Amino acid sequence: MSAKPFDAADFRRALGSFATGVTIITTRSADGTPFGLTVNSFNSVSLNPPLVLWSLATSSLSLPAFQSAPHWAVHVLAADQDGLSGRFAKRGEDKFAGLDIETGVEGVPLLRGCMARFQCRTAFQYEGGDHVIFIGEVLSFDRNDAPPLVFHGGKYAHATLRDPPDLQPRSAHLAGSFGDDFLGYQLGRSHFRFLAQIRRYLTDAHLSDEDFYVLSALTLKARLTVADLDAGMAGILDESGHRALASLIERGLVRSSATDKQIYELTDSGRDSALRVISAAKAVEQQVLHRLGPGEAPVLKSLLARLLNVIDPAANALWQEKNADEGAPAAAHMR
Ligand SMILES: Cc1cc2nc3c(=O)[nH]c(=O)nc-3n(C[C@H](O)[C@H](O)[C@H](O)COP(=O)(O)O)c2cc1C
Repeated sequence: MSAKPFDAADFRRALGSFATGVTIITTRSADGTPFGLTVNSFNSVSLNPPLVLWSLATSSLSLPAFQSAPHWAVHVLAADQDGLSGRFAKRGEDKFAGLDIETGVEGVPLLRGCMARFQCRTAFQYEGGDHVIFIGEVLSFDRNDAPPLVFHGGKYAHATLRDPPDLQPRSAHLAGSFGDDFLGYQLGRSHFRFLAQIRRYLTDAHLSDEDFYVLSALTLKARLTVADLDAGMAGILDESGHRALASLIERGLVRSSATDKQIYELTDSGRDSALRVISAAKAVEQQVLHRLGPGEAPVLKSLLARLLNVIDPAANALWQEKNADEGAPAAAHMR
């Protein structure tokens, strides 16, 4: 019985449903030229003897180098090495230019900052359709505990641990009450606890929460109209934003522009105040994220950014630097 022919793109998509890590495999040709490419077909084969495999497309420009190389090295990439993965996924090019390279067994180029590195001797090569399968005997390896880069469905992804048992959501034991996995509870409580740690710096700088939001908006958009403020803070500050702006002006932290009275900008002391609190707030952020761990922090941030995009798409406007002089909507007057 012959297999049903199938669509090549569909086949690729189906293969892409298998989530993998990402590696870069490097070698050095006989004339000393370094070669390397991004590979996710890497896999373990045997513990004893220690064997690993990967497959290389016959169309790859690196094929002759690997076919004749007695040694090569596998680099398992960490979550923050997607840029390096992109660089080594380009065809040809001088992929090693400007990189800080170490030298491994028999001169094999080694990349730094990876989660794990396996230095291998070519044990076997097999033809595998439009790929050549390389099996290597691992001669030495090193590793560190960075979070991994993941590839899934043709895109880079994050890997996080599933909920440990002590963090399984508890369902509400009272009918009609929320469980502790209710999004509003999680976001609300995190928000208040997080801000509470920043508030003492605000108090030191004699700033209310609202003052700080307006000052922060002015650090994003150097020249802000009230319309910008209204659009950026809609549903968050409203009238209290206008009161905060008036109070900041009164205290000499914000002034209206010399050229247009309806555009607001930070004064030197306003910038100083804002930067002082922002750097303290960033230090608080660092401490909190550090407790979360290096693998989880970028995942949380990426998911929150997506949540914000879904729940408050207008927030993007605040982050788009636009000169208030050009094309700003007719500025509303301070009320
Ligand atoms: C995540 C990812 C995984 C890849 N895995 C492989 C692989 O397992 N084998 C392969 O031959 N090419 C793989 N590639 C493609 C090569 O990296 C790419 O074709 C590269 O340009 C080859 O370079 P070269 O022609 O200079 O050798 C992968 C690319 C990416 C982005």
